[in-house]
Amino acid sequence: DTHVAPLHARSTCERLAAAGKQVELIEVAAGEDSKSLTVLEGVLRKLASVRFGRDSAVLAIGGGVVTDLAGFAAASYLRGVAFYACPTSLLAMVDAGVGGKTGVNLPEGKNLVGAFWQPRAVVADVATLVSLPPRQFREGAVELFKHGLLDDEFLLGAPEDTRFAPNGDSSTLEEYVARSVAVKAKVVAADEREAGSRAHLNLGHTLAHAIEAASEHSISHGEAVAYGLQYAALLGLGRGWFDFTGAAQRLLSWLEPAPLPCRSFDELLPYMLRDKKNLAARMRFVLLRHEATPVLVDDVDDDEQRRAWGQLLEVVS
Ligand code: GLY
Repeated sequence: DTHVAPLHARSTCERLAAAGKQVELIEVAAGEDSKSLTVLEGVLRKLASVRFGRDSAVLAIGGGVVTDLAGFAAASYLRGVAFYACPTSLLAMVDAGVGGKTGVNLPEGKNLVGAFWQPRAVVADVATLVSLPPRQFREGAVELFKHGLLDDEFLLGAPEDTRFAPNGDSSTLEEYVARSVAVKAKVVAADEREAGSRAHLNLGHTLAHAIEAASEHSISHGEAVAYGLQYAALLGLGRGWFDFTGAAQRLLSWLEPAPLPCRSFDELLPYMLRDKKNLAARMRFVLLRHEATPVLVDDVDDDEQRRAWGQLLEVVS
């Protein structure tokens, strides 16, 4: 996109051209609006106009928006050409860049059009994170922390590790990114098309999507997921399941997210009901029954939800 091109994409193109490749740089505006059918059409028409063939490859150099858009362009151009992801944000390194979910938004909703199209390789160079604004770095750290809750306790130490910072020790960052990717890759390898266990990656996301929508996206995805993780912890605690409220609270203290968009659960409820994980209008949550043992549940009743919401308001006030 227009932010990343001068930092990383132009130099990559120059080096590929010097290596004898025919290279076209396609820049899109920075921001979620570029995940649209209109922008996708522009990308596909550019590929067609330069007559790229089946032996061409699409490299996505950027954050999640670029990865999703370019991945879907690769999946659809000539019914599929090679795709390589070079994520330059922490969020894209640990989430969007890995797992092959590609696509664009419709006015009716996010990610409603797309394809599963796996990258041939993912090149995550933590040196690119130095230019990342701290708020965006922290946003990515939330998904990394979520992977820690799902399967790797080591990752839970990240926010408290003073070397865990864009300009900190790069070997530390590399280890956190690599271990986070390993958690996601294992989940995706077991259930690429989300027939079942891939949905565990949505830990914290039922409330998060509702909060993002209710705040009209003034709360970032990462901040909303951090609230969502604490909410999932409180729901689980109410059932006597694994207690990770302390870990979730440490994450929230480190993150210092924008305040919740509302205090009334009734205000939030319509947004919760729209979540795409819901099947046949039953609200679905990912909870941890035991440590690193996620389960998908659709029987969380209204009382449990309201109790956990009240507790969330208390712990974040
Ligand atoms: N971000 C969730 C997934 O890739 O399935």
